[in-house]
Amino acid sequence: MSQSKKGAKFTSSLGFILTAAGSAVGVGNIWRFPYLAARDGGGLFILIYLILVVTFGFTLLTSDIAFGRKTGQNALRAYGTANKKWNFLGKITFLVPAIIMTYYSVIGGWVLKYVAVYITGDKAEAASDSYFMDFVTSKISPVVFMLIFLAITAFIVYCGVEKGIERFSKFVMPGLLVMIIAIAIYSLTLKHTDASGAARTGLEGLAVYLIPDFSGLTVGRFLNILLDAMSQLFFSLSVSMGIMVTYGSYVSKETDLSSSISKIELFDTGVALLAGMMIIPAVYVFSGIDGMSSGPSLMFVSLPKVFESMGGAGTFIGLIFFLMVTFAALTSSVSIMETLVANCMEIFHSTRKKTSLIIGILSLAASVLICLGYNIFYFELKLPNGSVGQLLDVMDYISNSFLMPLTSLLSCILIGWVLKPKWIQEEMEYGGKKFRRKRLYSCMVKYIAPVIMAVLFIQSVGLL
Ligand code: PHE
Repeated sequence: MSQSKKGAKFTSSLGFILTAAGSAVGVGNIWRFPYLAARDGGGLFILIYLILVVTFGFTLLTSDIAFGRKTGQNALRAYGTANKKWNFLGKITFLVPAIIMTYYSVIGGWVLKYVAVYITGDKAEAASDSYFMDFVTSKISPVVFMLIFLAITAFIVYCGVEKGIERFSKFVMPGLLVMIIAIAIYSLTLKHTDASGAARTGLEGLAVYLIPDFSGLTVGRFLNILLDAMSQLFFSLSVSMGIMVTYGSYVSKETDLSSSISKIELFDTGVALLAGMMIIPAVYVFSGIDGMSSGPSLMFVSLPKVFESMGGAGTFIGLIFFLMVTFAALTSSVSIMETLVANCMEIFHSTRKKTSLIIGILSLAASVLICLGYNIFYFELKLPNGSVGQLLDVMDYISNSFLMPLTSLLSCILIGWVLKPKWIQEEMEYGGKKFRRKRLYSCMVKYIAPVIMAVLFIQSVGLL
C-alpha cells in the first residue's frame, strides 16, 4: 500500500478477508444497492446481480487479488511488472478511486447527519418526506458533515493507523450485520394505510423485492439493468481500481486464495441483499411503487420512517444503526484515500504526512463542489442509462459505469490473451491449493468478460 509498508503482510487469512471485506462493505451495500434494486424493479435486478457476482465478480476479484500476490506490487506497478507495455493500465485504475473519493465523503456526511438527528432526537421530523431533500439542498449543513467525515478519513490515513480501524471493524462489522437482520425482519412486519385508503404490508414489499417481473422488458431496458448491476458489482466489491491488487500483494503465499475470495464475495453480497430487505419493503409500505424510483435519497427517506414507527426504541436503534453505517463507510473511505496517498507517495516520492494533507485538501475542494451540485450548481442531466442525475450521479456514472468496464476490459485482455489465464491459475494453485471454478475463470476472462465489458462500455456512452 505504501513505501513505508513495503514487505507488509497480512498475518492471517482471516485478517486479509476482514480487511478486504472492510473495504468492500460500505455505503455501496447499504445505500447504493437498495436504491438501484428499487429503481430497476426489484426481483429482476437481484437475479441479474446474483448471476453477475458468481461469474464476473468472482473473475474480477480473482484477477485483482492473484495479480497482486503474484507480482508482489501495488496496482501502479503490478501491470507494468507483468508486462512493460501494460504499465498504463495501472495509471488508469488510479483514476477510479480519485473520482469515487469526491463523492464518497459526501454520502459519508449524509450518514453522519443522521447520526446527529438521532442524537438530538429529531426523529419525527426526519421521518417526513421532505426532510432529506431540504437537507441536501441546503448550502451549509451538507458541507459541514462532509467535512467532518473527510477529516476523520484523512486523519486516519495521515497517522497511518488504518490497521487500528480494521481491528475495530472486527467488532463493528458483525454488529452491523446483526442490526441489519433485525431491522429487516421488523420491516417485514410493517403495515400502513395511506391517505387514499390503500393498505400495504411488508411481505408484499418483500415480494416486489424478490420476485422478478419480466413484463414489458425490452432489450434496451435489460441492458440498462445489466449496466446498473455491473456498475454496482464493481463499486461494491471494490474491484478494478487497484485496491484489491494492492491487498493481494500483502497476502502470504500460504493463504488459500480461492476460499478467501468466496468468503469476501459471500459477505459483501449477503450484506447488500439484507440491506435491500431492510429498506425496500419499508419503502413499498410507506410510499408504494411510486416511492421506489426516488434514487439516491431512498435509504435516507425510508429508514427514518421505519425508526419512527418503532416508537421510543426507534431513537436508540436509529442512532446505533447510523453509527455502524458510519464505521462501515469509514473503513471503505480509508481504503480509497489510502490508495490515493500510497500511489502519490510513490509517484512524487513525498512523505505520508505531506501527501495525506494535499490529497485531503484536494478531496475537500472536489467534495464541496459535489455538495453544491444540489443547489448552486444544480442541473439535471439525462444520463445514457435513462436516469436523470446531478453532479454526484454524474461522477458515480463516470467511475462505475464508464471507467470500470473499461479497466476491466483491458485487464481481461491482458490476462486472457497476453499473459494467458494459466498465469493466474498458477498463482491460485500455488502450494497445492485448489482453484475452484477454474474452468469458469478461464472462459470468463478470455471470452465472456471482454465481450460483455465491451458491450457495456458502448452502452455506457449511449451508443447502443
Ligand atoms: N466497496 C465500497 C462500498 O461498497 C466502496 C468502495 C469503492 C471502496 C471503491 C473502495 C473502493 O461502499
